[in-house]
Amino acid sequence: MTQMHENIVGIDAAIFMHPTTWKASGHVDNFNDPMIDNKDSKKRYRVDHLIEAKAEEMRTEGRDDEADGLLDDMDKLLAKDDFDGLRQLIVNQGIKCAISKTSNWTEVRQFNLMFSTQMGSVSDETNEIYLRPETAQGIFVNFLNVQKTGRLKIPFGIAQIGKAFRNEIVARQFIFRMREFEQMEMQYFIRPGTQKEWYESWKETRMKWHLSLGIPKEKYRFHDHVKLAHYADAACDIEYDFPFGFKEVEGIHSRTDFDLKNHQEYSKKKMQYFDSEVNQNYIPYVIETSIGLDRTILMMLSEAYAEEDLSTAEKQDSRVVLRFPSKISPMKLAVLPLVKKDGLPEIARTIMDDCKSQFRCFYEEKDTIGKRYRRMDAIGTPFCVTVDQQTKQDNTVTIRYRDTMQQERIAADKVREIVLKEIQ
Ligand code: GAP
Repeated sequence: MTQMHENIVGIDAAIFMHPTTWKASGHVDNFNDPMIDNKDSKKRYRVDHLIEAKAEEMRTEGRDDEADGLLDDMDKLLAKDDFDGLRQLIVNQGIKCAISKTSNWTEVRQFNLMFSTQMGSVSDETNEIYLRPETAQGIFVNFLNVQKTGRLKIPFGIAQIGKAFRNEIVARQFIFRMREFEQMEMQYFIRPGTQKEWYESWKETRMKWHLSLGIPKEKYRFHDHVKLAHYADAACDIEYDFPFGFKEVEGIHSRTDFDLKNHQEYSKKKMQYFDSEVNQNYIPYVIETSIGLDRTILMMLSEAYAEEDLSTAEKQDSRVVLRFPSKISPMKLAVLPLVKKDGLPEIARTIMDDCKSQFRCFYEEKDTIGKRYRRMDAIGTPFCVTVDQQTKQDNTVTIRYRDTMQQERIAADKVREIVLKEIQ
């Protein structure tokens, strides 16, 4: 975002902000999810999660049409805030609590998802502050500071990576849904009236970014929101086909001037921008791209993970490998002296010193070379170089490629160049 786009800059805003920020943003009044409790187990569920789980169950039984119908019905009821209808849908579908295995449900009620705490030592409602449920508001309240100091002209963007906190009732599926997670958001400030074209343009740009991760097109789909969040006039998700089904990784939202207008009203500070091209003052409209960092990691892990059977007629063998694209692998190169003596570690250290300022390298001399290769496969290291007795004679090393497991001999002083070319 910030390197490849000249008009997008980064920021690191606060996690705690003035409580009125969350009144202005609508989160105090609207950041709710419909929930239902099971009276026997006392477990609380998000209504949409319960129904989605039922739809997934139908799909695994090959009842795809029924699953689509169920999700359609749910979307319609959610769009109307029809809580009685949602409860009835759960009862009619015979959805049971996973713990008590009963359908003894309460009414559907709304719960706010923000975590709160007290500022200072006196516990009193006026001191209540919130942990941010999205990073976006830190960008909105700082919008003019950044625009003025960065001398930015519309259209421009402000991006941020940071923690967000939500009191999710069911945090599950590993790092897919957590109460403390990391968002990577970008707010793109535009002229009012141009939101439709920028929304479409960011949808396309973001999908291109996803495909550049090396993930095939058929693993992604767009899902348009039927029930729009309180701030949006258009919204969609980019969904990835996780091992547990298509799920949201990123949201793209056309947020209108909702946030800036409300911050202006609540803070009594102007949030207007002077557009010299049209000689007008206005509150910009905003297109937001919002992706979960943890979910992106889970997506990359799901895509890369493979268990391979390498058995031959002589022996049983297998390996676990993370087939990350080289540019994404956290560790790029392992440098492995074949034995811990005869000057081989010293040569290996020279290769480490030549490479470690350029990309992440891992040095290891423990265990057999076969075991060391397998450990590197399991964390997705694309290249291993081994220093052996021949290195002392002709200054060559063996390079082993993770995906093909092929090995070849190369000059030791070419290692850095070869790896750098592959990780671009
Ligand atoms: N500012 C807009 C916003 O926060 P969102 O769709 O609620 O929109 C954006 O969240 C992204 O944050 C999601 O697409 C998802 O990747 C991630 N996310 C949301 N809740 C999460 C949770 N409980 N755990 C992990 N990631 C989450």
